[in-house]
Amino acid sequence: MKPTSIAVLGTGMVGKALATKLVGLGHRVTLGSRSARHDGATAWAEAHGERAGQSDFATAAAGAELVLLAVKGEHAEAVVDAARKGADGAALDGKVLVDITNPLDFSQGMPPSLFVFGHDSLAERLQRAAPKARVVKTLNTVNASVMVDPDRVAGQGAVFVSGDDAEAKATVKAMLEGFGWRQIVDLGDLSTARGTEAYLLLWLRLWQATGSPDINIGLLRAPDGAR
Ligand SMILES: NC(=O)c1ccc[n+]([C@@H]2O[C@H](COP(=O)([O-])OP(=O)(O)OC[C@H]3O[C@@H](n4cnc5c(N)ncnc54)[C@H](OP(=O)(O)O)[C@@H]3O)[C@@H](O)[C@H]2O)c1
Repeated sequence: MKPTSIAVLGTGMVGKALATKLVGLGHRVTLGSRSARHDGATAWAEAHGERAGQSDFATAAAGAELVLLAVKGEHAEAVVDAARKGADGAALDGKVLVDITNPLDFSQGMPPSLFVFGHDSLAERLQRAAPKARVVKTLNTVNASVMVDPDRVAGQGAVFVSGDDAEAKATVKAMLEGFGWRQIVDLGDLSTARGTEAYLLLWLRLWQATGSPDINIGLLRAPDGAR
């Protein structure tokens, strides 16, 4: 992917891991948070040189060509709505919005459940919140460390891509290849995110069963002609 100006909305483990990787790959990255002044984002920007900056969600999104969303799932729609309203209400228009969030519901304790599933997904809700953005869901099925270093998991697992816009998915695939992903599975339109979001229920159990969050799954197929 050619050097791009990127907003990473989210200052948690995922936001910082992605922002750090993207700066290292030569992109200009603004880390977005609720407030224009955020201690963690300021420290991150100061530590990562002149291509790194920080801002509030709306300003970061308005100034970027590509927007990555990595905020708490329960607040994701509100953050997208706030981001959309920047730049006279057009801050996300036409832009690729990479959704990495999961709709985790911790209200009943651990392990969490999902607050949207079945006939809808958080990705689709975000698309409805910003109808002119081009939402692509990816990377939500692995932890922050594996997202930016897929070889951390021996044997190379799969990463999934869901979205309605082919060009937007091509942009995201190029970003994922830059991160080192080789098995990139295009599931189809954005409704396929219902599957990768629901997979979190299994991922959480795999984490418990193995004792490690550095896990992934791969796609195995019968050889051509075997069926
Ligand atoms: N952790 C992982 O390895 C992992 C893996 C796959 C997917 N995910 C998903 O990625 C997303 C980010 O996860 P994370 O672990 O990096 O961090 P997180 O703690 O889930 O989210 C941190 C971000 O959420 C924002 N936030 C918190 N409360 C908010 C509110 N009331 N209104 C608006 N924004 C609010 C924070 O804003 P401020 O910046 O202002 O503090 C911060 O930017 C989540 O949806 C998670 O499910 C995480």
